[in-house]
Amino acid sequence: MTSKYLVTGGAGFIGSHVVELMLRRGHAVVVLDNFSTGKRENLEQVRADVRGGELTVVEGSVTSPSDVERAAAGCRGVVHLAALPSVVRSVEEPVESHEHNVTGTVVVLDRARRNGMKVVYAGSSSAYGDQDAAYKSEDLREMPLSPYAASKLAGELYCRSFARVYGMPIVVTRFFNVFGPRQTPDSPYSGVVAAFCFALLRGKAPRIDGDGLQSRDFTYVADVARGVLLALETTTSGCETVNLACAGNHTINDLLRVLREYAGSTLQPVHAPPRNGDVMHSRADISRIRALLGFQPEVTFDEGLRKTYDWYRRTYR
Ligand SMILES: NC(=O)c1ccc[n+]([C@@H]2O[C@H](COP(=O)([O-])OP(=O)(O)OC[C@H]3O[C@@H](n4cnc5c(N)ncnc54)[C@H](O)[C@@H]3O)[C@@H](O)[C@H]2O)c1
Repeated sequence: MTSKYLVTGGAGFIGSHVVELMLRRGHAVVVLDNFSTGKRENLEQVRADVRGGELTVVEGSVTSPSDVERAAAGCRGVVHLAALPSVVRSVEEPVESHEHNVTGTVVVLDRARRNGMKVVYAGSSSAYGDQDAAYKSEDLREMPLSPYAASKLAGELYCRSFARVYGMPIVVTRFFNVFGPRQTPDSPYSGVVAAFCFALLRGKAPRIDGDGLQSRDFTYVADVARGVLLALETTTSGCETVNLACAGNHTINDLLRVLREYAGSTLQPVHAPPRNGDVMHSRADISRIRALLGFQPEVTFDEGLRKTYDWYRRTYR
């Protein structure tokens, strides 16, 4: 059955892939975005790739109840991705981070409960902080280390409270280091895969914060979009929290080695001091999302990096 869905932050990196998959499946999509980090080109690219899809773009903020009300009209569910997704920026501007990430979430949840919409909330692996567990499972105690992590976790707590108080179905999907085409590569807040691809293509030394032995569960964006749609379309009740990841484990040094091979580059990295609020190791236990939604990652680290590097080469050469 096709439906109409709202995607907040739909002009962003992950949002544009969620929108694309929804349109490919025949759903009508409304994007609400203030274009602070998102780009119109992302949606133009999606429109060009998926001809005939029904896509409406509302420019506005999730912090504005009237903008959210306008965008949500007639929508059956919402994927709430709009946020300022940067640890570094949150350390510099914690109040701004709170406003977009927490207040914005409460406004979206409030509209969803008034309209009877299902909610999928973009949670973050940053909720776990640095803990000894080899795999981060959802029943670990949360330990946010940065204002960003605290803001994303505060959004989750609101999701739990709204599900309990109003009986709303909500799925919190905790993303782990998402990478792929359309991630902004040239901002001080860029994700590491995008930043490395861009540096290698420009012949500049990639910058590694710390010794590069930090490890991450890098997850290809198409897998994330599939997981989000499963969360939206599967019947659930109350608030479910699931990791959405690959369950892999690669260091930043590994990542750079593979990308340098693809790029045929011998550029040596420069090392900067470790980042304030960064976690050392992050790897997901994905048994809960497998059991609840039947999710299985499909794109391996190497395959995802190859697709991503090729996209940056085509786009920024
Ligand atoms: N990229 C990752 O690895 C990762 C990991 C964990 C969680 N997340 C979460 O996934 C979501 C999407 O992240 P992304 O990587 O695609 O980042 P992004 O910056 O590309 O996307 C965020 C989008 O939200 C929009 N936005 C910001 N504030 C807004 C507001 N007040 N009103 C309307 N739109 C607003 C931006 O313009 C942008 O289009 C975020 O909630 C982020 O916290 C991302």
